[in-house]
Amino acid sequence: MARNSETIFTADNLELINQVGLLGAKADLLKLSSALRSQGRSPESVTLAISQGRLRHRALTKFGTELASSMLLTEAGLEQATRSEVANWHAERFIDAGLTSVTDLGCGIGSDSIAFSKAGLQVKAVEADLATAEIAAHNLSGHQSAEVIVGTAETHEVDTEACYLDPARRKLDQKTAGRVMLQPEDFSPNLNFAFDLGSKVPAAIKLSGSFPHELIPANCEANWVSHNNELVETILFFGKLGTQGKRSAVLLGQENLEFSGSHEQAEIQDLGAFIYDPNPALVRSHLLGGFASENNLWGLSKSIAFLSSNSEIHSPWLRGFNVLEVLSLDPKRISKRLQELGIGILEIKKRGVDTTPEELRKKLRLKGKVSATLILTKLGEDRRAILCQPIG
Ligand SMILES: C[S@@+](CC[C@H](N)C(=O)[O-])C[C@H]1O[C@@H](n2cnc3c(N)ncnc32)[C@H](O)[C@@H]1O
Repeated sequence: MARNSETIFTADNLELINQVGLLGAKADLLKLSSALRSQGRSPESVTLAISQGRLRHRALTKFGTELASSMLLTEAGLEQATRSEVANWHAERFIDAGLTSVTDLGCGIGSDSIAFSKAGLQVKAVEADLATAEIAAHNLSGHQSAEVIVGTAETHEVDTEACYLDPARRKLDQKTAGRVMLQPEDFSPNLNFAFDLGSKVPAAIKLSGSFPHELIPANCEANWVSHNNELVETILFFGKLGTQGKRSAVLLGQENLEFSGSHEQAEIQDLGAFIYDPNPALVRSHLLGGFASENNLWGLSKSIAFLSSNSEIHSPWLRGFNVLEVLSLDPKRISKRLQELGIGILEIKKRGVDTTPEELRKKLRLKGKVSATLILTKLGEDRRAILCQPIG
């Protein structure tokens, strides 16, 4: 990408941004600002450096220290960017498929493109928004194998072996957002364009974790991905990047795990000695039933994603609890029992009941040094509070 002669990111401003470094919540911005002003820096340069310092600090959890300290960022770009560990996994998939080049159609600030380039792929990073493209060009400037191009996905002529798309979701106003069915044209680039591309070249299309199953085309592999126990995306792999029709839950962490299977309902039985909270990728992928039957687990109520067993199971896919007692979901009774047991430190989890943990907590008047977990859920058709303790 040609250098923008009107850029705010001049050499002087870049030097100031690096000098300011990362600014956490405790940074004294007034003091910093007046110190920089007294060194003769312009108000615009100081504002820019401080806002980049704030954003770089917020970027730490997504990108780690080295990247966060060197990238240029925007508020929206950071919010939409893929976490480094997830982007590295995307890149691994392209390498494992034997691909050597990729076009990132809508590269944003460049998080995925950086990972592709680091993994050894030739990268064309296309971005429609000029200011964002300028930032991507800075972020990819140390990567000889990457080129940033200002343009639209729909008009760019792809000349690489594969494509990657992370479409931006059109902003709906709050009222509409909850009600309307998501449509392919609610994304930019448009999903019909993206899916069509996937039927022609190997492509990966990143979507939100809550993307509706019914909009997923049959000719791709779909993965629901969790990182640090958080559902971060649904990603579709087309062509040699995946296996048509395969559906998997993926857990990224110290080691990357995958569970594949078909959609089936978990068998429903009575509560056993242990209750398990499954990883959100298993739940959202609708593969929980298959996982349950492979691991001798069962469900407790239809459509509610807690599992149970009489054996203690340690699995990265599950958070397990030892069941102590089952109580009726009556705040007075729960409060009395917790006081008898000296339970004053309480984690409250809920699924399938409308009681809000915050409201219940206020009514419990917790006192005591013992800690426990209270799971509010349905056992069959009955609403219950299950008192339990996490297994080690
Ligand atoms: C979700 S962000 C990409 C984030 C990126 N994967 C990352 O990890 O940093 C989507 C980007 O696509 C760009 N975009 C939207 N529509 C586009 C189009 N039709 N052509 C090219 N870029 C587009 C937006 O400006 C935005 O920067």
